[in-house]
Amino acid sequence: MELSTDYMGLALRNPLVASASPLSRTVDGVRRLADSGVGAVVLYSLFEEQLRREAALNARLADAGTESFAESLSYFPAVAEEEPGPRHYLSLLERAAAAVEVPVIGSLNGVTPGGWAGYARAMQEAGAAAIELNIYYLPGDPHISGRDVEQRHIDVLTRVKDAVTVPVAVKVGPHFSSTGEMALRMDDAGANGLVLFNRFVQPDIDPDTLTVVSTVDLSSQAEARLPRTWIALLYGRVRAALAATTGVEEPADVARYLLAGADVVMTTSALLRHGPEYAAVLLDGLSAWMARKGFAAVDELRGILSVAPGTDEATHERAGYVGALRKANRSAYGPW
Ligand SMILES: Cc1cc2nc3c(=O)[nH]c(=O)nc-3n(C[C@H](O)[C@H](O)[C@H](O)COP(=O)(O)O)c2cc1C
Repeated sequence: MELSTDYMGLALRNPLVASASPLSRTVDGVRRLADSGVGAVVLYSLFEEQLRREAALNARLADAGTESFAESLSYFPAVAEEEPGPRHYLSLLERAAAAVEVPVIGSLNGVTPGGWAGYARAMQEAGAAAIELNIYYLPGDPHISGRDVEQRHIDVLTRVKDAVTVPVAVKVGPHFSSTGEMALRMDDAGANGLVLFNRFVQPDIDPDTLTVVSTVDLSSQAEARLPRTWIALLYGRVRAALAATTGVEEPADVARYLLAGADVVMTTSALLRHGPEYAAVLLDGLSAWMARKGFAAVDELRGILSVAPGTDEATHERAGYVGALRKANRSAYGPW
């Protein structure tokens, strides 16, 4: 079975990619993912806040001078208690990239076009085959306009693109007024890949303890429908590669995304649930399904259930909605 895939110019042995998660926090973790058969590994994200903290620390150390060096050292414990910093990240990236055959992609999480974008270059120098820019931005301030939010994405992308020569993928959420136009704008701004979609943490309320609880839940299969709908719509309409993320639990989910038009299919929740070795189960299942359906290569099936170019997309989506509602009204949920 021919599973080899091009992703942003990177030659992958197959289209299954381990997306950013705690599974890539160690070299052994990355090696386990690679050994399980994935085509590439995205490291967990290095956060803009971590970079700012380190920059502030360095500035304070420089200001302090040698006579107050002892005092400067007292800053370190506070930082050490936090997440591993950028130096640790770059070292992990360098060792992981050297340890495995598959491409290792560095992930930067930032929402402002600040000087930290230079870290993308440091990631490249440490051996990142590409950069995934994880723009996790929820405009909580109700005065921020939609256009400003969009521009912020473009500005961050442009800064990172200027800093590196390796491909840059952008991981975004689905909450734009016109997700399609935003995809076109990112494509025009030079995004080599679009990773659809980021899942936003949605805090819950615990009525017993009267507290707000923020947790990162694992995904469910049904959540794949939103990114899949957009991948099917964007297929053939952007130059950027399309990476699917969210809701892959079984081999059929990988097949669904490829049929919609994904270049690569990412997975985290399934690997956290079943262990990194589950990637081999997903890949074996994909090959078995391809054999049953008579496909010899992923290129033969990619995008065959996308929205065909030339379709009136708005009418297409509206027809799907109206048709589904009619069907539901006729039978699915009645009679009461
Ligand atoms: C525990 C956990 C940690 C994650 N950490 C990151 C991260 O550091 N950076 C990132 O871009 N996405 C992160 N994600 C999101 C995943 O990469 C992925 O996009 C998301 O979970 C949807 O895919 P899935 O349904 O296969 O889990 C994390 C997800 C989980 C569950």
